Amino acid sequence: MDHVTVVAHPLVQHKLTIMRNRETSTAGFRRLLKEISLLLAYEVTRELDMTTVEIETPLCPMTAPTLEGKKLALISILRAGNGLLDGILELIPAARVGFIGLYRDPVTLQPVQYYCKVPDMLDSRMCIVVDPMLATGNSSAAAVSLLKDRGARNIRFLCLLAAPEGIARMRAAHPDVPIVTAAVDSHLNDHGYIVPGLGDAGDRMFGTK
Ligand code: URA
Repeated sequence: MDHVTVVAHPLVQHKLTIMRNRETSTAGFRRLLKEISLLLAYEVTRELDMTTVEIETPLCPMTAPTLEGKKLALISILRAGNGLLDGILELIPAARVGFIGLYRDPVTLQPVQYYCKVPDMLDSRMCIVVDPMLATGNSSAAAVSLLKDRGARNIRFLCLLAAPEGIARMRAAHPDVPIVTAAVDSHLNDHGYIVPGLGDAGDRMFGTK
């Protein structure tokens, strides 16, 4: 997989435009995020390992393709990652799920972990880390490091929007982790928001300010 894949599918781009619009309601934003996450999940799972299984159709025996190996692990970076998680779980209901909570230390500005609960045997699962906004990339890089410390080797990062700064940070820290996104925007502003972006993804999906 390339280091960055932009999913240019017309449905993804159309839905993203509605999500960017400040007039879109919280309910609409949440519904669209769920819909778009199904389409992004389709792309990010393109290279799952396959094997075959012997089955019998109503007509005859058949050697048929099936997924190989352990159930994949979806890792949500709290809290906005949960918006992507819901949709992906509809497509991959058997996936194992983990959560990583990080906050930014006000003095060092570095991410500090406040919560971590992830599935076991990460070394034999594909891990898909989900966070709608790849902004500075600091928390994303920290979350991936944490998963690697716990044995994960086959990791993908799935987001809705990415800033060039976040992509560069991830490429420097984790060149082995492909990124799948619906768009790469122009830049980060002084407050670390993606421009043009869609604002604070957590606030928009949960209706907080
Ligand atoms: N997080 C968000 O929710 N939005 C941004 O633009 C950047 C980080």
